[in-house]
Amino acid sequence: MNTKQLLNWYKENARDLPWRKTTDPYLIWVSEIILQQTRVVQGIDYYHKFIEKFPSLHKLAAANEQEVLKAWEGLGYYSRARNLHFTAKDLINNYQGKFPSDYIGLLRLKGIGPYTAAAIASFAFGQKVPAIDGNVMRFLSRYYGLENNIASSSEVKIFRQKAEKIIDPDNPGLFNQAMMEFGAMQCTPSSPDCGKCIFQQQCIAYQTGKVNQLPVKIKIQKIRSRHLHFFLIYCEGEFLIEKRTEKGIWKNLYQLPLIETNSKNLKEEEMKEFLRKYNLKTGKNAKKINSLTHLLSHQKLHINFWILNTCTSTGFFIEPKDIERYPFPIVIAKFLDNYFN
Ligand code: ADE
Repeated sequence: MNTKQLLNWYKENARDLPWRKTTDPYLIWVSEIILQQTRVVQGIDYYHKFIEKFPSLHKLAAANEQEVLKAWEGLGYYSRARNLHFTAKDLINNYQGKFPSDYIGLLRLKGIGPYTAAAIASFAFGQKVPAIDGNVMRFLSRYYGLENNIASSSEVKIFRQKAEKIIDPDNPGLFNQAMMEFGAMQCTPSSPDCGKCIFQQQCIAYQTGKVNQLPVKIKIQKIRSRHLHFFLIYCEGEFLIEKRTEKGIWKNLYQLPLIETNSKNLKEEEMKEFLRKYNLKTGKNAKKINSLTHLLSHQKLHINFWILNTCTSTGFFIEPKDIERYPFPIVIAKFLDNYFN
């Protein structure tokens, strides 16, 4: 790629964005984290609001978490705001209040991944590392006719390697901004205006009529494993049930009292918490009577059924003959059916 051509395009077409006028790593960091959460137009307002409230790393580190979350209100995904706050304190306490000036050092900070580390390293410190986001991958994919899946982390490497070969060693920050801007403004996801694109002649996708097929994006859903322990709390011919009110596929269905654990085994402390919640005296004679796995579209549920013969004043008890009056998730319904018939 002729990067001079790209940089010339950028000079003429770049939007005037506040975080492009600075090399302060703090301001760049804040802007990039905000932009991971929202579009540029809305991001500008949040950026101004955030840095007005927390104009420096020291001010952010000294804030309380509630103030930080308040400034983030509406952006969603609040762990990003918590990580900003955490890392500000980390930098003050353990880095003399200064950002590491290299990509690897930046990557060690909580909430800073490969893209953000590369953006800060190149924009603030002039390091020669390509910043690869969705805009850049789309542009590279079309320009070079790359059919690698941009949603696969192992294939993102291919785009990074390509960008490493063409990054301008004299202006790495400017190069990264220009690549992003070109992807965002010219090489748009749908209906790009290829008629007025400066790279029309070199663009493989344009030349082969594949602009609309590239980039390839195939999301591979990760299957999450969960460990659920349901308790049949049995007292004088009746057992305890409860309604699920939280959102999810089982919302408003009934279930047996549940403990969810992070690993296969149920820890003593978790059991104690459970006994407290249901006002149960002891869980000593709880017996596991069945284990199974239940596959949902994105989750693998490792389900254990326990029986505990004990009474309590807390909760809603039903008789086995009334099971059919309540909707249960199918795994629980089958278990109850087997157990009582
Ligand atoms: N999106 C993410 N980072 C950006 C930046 N620095 N400029 C414009 N758009 C962006």
